[in-house]
Amino acid sequence: MKFFVDTADVAAIAELNDLGMVDGVTTNPSLILKSGRDILEVTREICGIVSGPVSAEVVAMDAQSMIAEGRKLAAIAPNIAVKVPLTWDGLKACKVLTGDGFMVNVTLCFSANQALLAAKAGATFISPFIGRLDDINLDGMELIGDIRTIYDNYDFRTQILAASIRSANHMKDAALMGADVATAPPAVIKAMANHVLTDKGLEQFNADWAKTGQKIL
Ligand code: G3P
Repeated sequence: MKFFVDTADVAAIAELNDLGMVDGVTTNPSLILKSGRDILEVTREICGIVSGPVSAEVVAMDAQSMIAEGRKLAAIAPNIAVKVPLTWDGLKACKVLTGDGFMVNVTLCFSANQALLAAKAGATFISPFIGRLDDINLDGMELIGDIRTIYDNYDFRTQILAASIRSANHMKDAALMGADVATAPPAVIKAMANHVLTDKGLEQFNADWAKTGQKIL
């Protein structure tokens, strides 16, 4: 499973990228707001750090304006994936922008039918929002499983990008469900390293090592 980092925080992206943990980046208007940066400027900087797909989202509501915004965003760098919402206009924009040769990430997906439409429109990525479905007592991971089955049934090439990931367990479950990509905030990716038995074992090793009186360096 590929790891995308869901942030516009350049320092956090650079740290994870240096560790080989970043296959791509996703941003959205809320994450741009959080960064306090200009969308074109911060997106260009991210594209200079990460060689994989960097999603930048359009904000228009009608297809023609989405296409114009998408073309402007795609001009930032060759690794831009234009992010469009899963609306009828977003699907129209997806079709045109993929026809232009750009990667397109169709976002705000909450149903298998929406994912089926995105694949038909030629989306590069479909972004089902796991956490937001869980928030309303639906099962986000079940949706990932349904989309996996549908895409495999018909050999759709659209990649399933599990989004709205809130926990390390979400990452594991997305991988078990066969998501192609999971995008998560930096803190969630880091939390995947945590285990209480690792901490406990290390404490014991350090205590025993101190008793040996030895040094390695
Ligand atoms: O990847 C989509 C993400 O940014 C939304 O996450 O936690 O706001 O539902 P969240």
